[in-house]
Amino acid sequence: MSVALRCAGSRAAGLKSVARPTSPAGHTAPAFRAPVITSQPTARGLARHWRCHSSKPADTVYSGPVAPSPSRVTLRTLRRMHARGDPFTMVTAYDYPSAVHVELSGIEMLLVGDSAAMVVHGHDTTLPITLEEMLTHCRAVSRGARRPFIVADLPFGSFEEGPTAAVRAAVRMLKEGGADAVKIEGGAPARVETIRAVVGAGIAVIGHVGLTPQSVSLLGGFRPAGLHADDAARVVAEAKALEEAGCVMVVVECVPELVGAAITQQLSIPTIGIGAGVHTSGQVLVYHDLLGMMQHPHHAKVTPKFCKQYAAVGEVIQGALSAFQAELIARHGLATAQNGA
Ligand code: KIV
Repeated sequence: MSVALRCAGSRAAGLKSVARPTSPAGHTAPAFRAPVITSQPTARGLARHWRCHSSKPADTVYSGPVAPSPSRVTLRTLRRMHARGDPFTMVTAYDYPSAVHVELSGIEMLLVGDSAAMVVHGHDTTLPITLEEMLTHCRAVSRGARRPFIVADLPFGSFEEGPTAAVRAAVRMLKEGGADAVKIEGGAPARVETIRAVVGAGIAVIGHVGLTPQSVSLLGGFRPAGLHADDAARVVAEAKALEEAGCVMVVVECVPELVGAAITQQLSIPTIGIGAGVHTSGQVLVYHDLLGMMQHPHHAKVTPKFCKQYAAVGEVIQGALSAFQAELIARHGLATAQNGA
């Protein structure tokens, strides 16, 4: 539905949008709109308006953020940035509100990571999350973030059977999830061939080397990779094979800084590091980690080793919830508050 038609629907309904201020970061933020009755609504106008409301909640009187036709970050944008030597940032998001926050920050890339299994679903590893669950996360994210380049992880179990399964899963991520690209872990020869097939289907693939959490069964835990010369050489060789197979970027996770630098130097495509030192082309962090929302005990234990925290949002949430309860207790007494009244 065109913007003009949506506006016409609102006008006919006798509703006027009132824009509120943009983001403090000065970024072109979505305007928040509240309804003002300006004239007598007509039945036809209301019908048109409500029809818009049901299909596009972001553009309605329910005050959802309205993206002001943002210029979308594409692979071309990212390639231009890489050629100029500009660093880019990627952050994970799993739902509509986190996607809106990433959008407002101006961060170029958004990863619907299978880390959702741990930080959102409370599992101890990334293995249990399903393709259907990842698609649900991806759909919510792509409704909230219209500007960033959206990458979606292919979860464990969705591509290991080979090229056919991988292409099918990747197509669904783009077609149903609204992703711009998929990320596939691993760089062993069979995986490289699978990735070649996905690229051959016209889908942008981000590789992932170093610590590959989906291989936790084989690794025996979340351990850094490339610590010894042989293993470092293996990680570098895998990254090169992924570039040769057509990957548009490679995530490098939890390797010594020297290994992150060597991979970045030897590839012509961008590298995105997490716990891989400062020499990669870009950096990625998990939303909950960087915000300090580490309620998952295992994740909290393994994360701080290489993740900088930029806030303590978990404490803010806890404080607000406790303040709400304390206020109720102060007003009505403990017995009433505990009864949930
Ligand atoms: O799933 C995820 O969040 C990731 C990042 C750690 C790169 O793969």
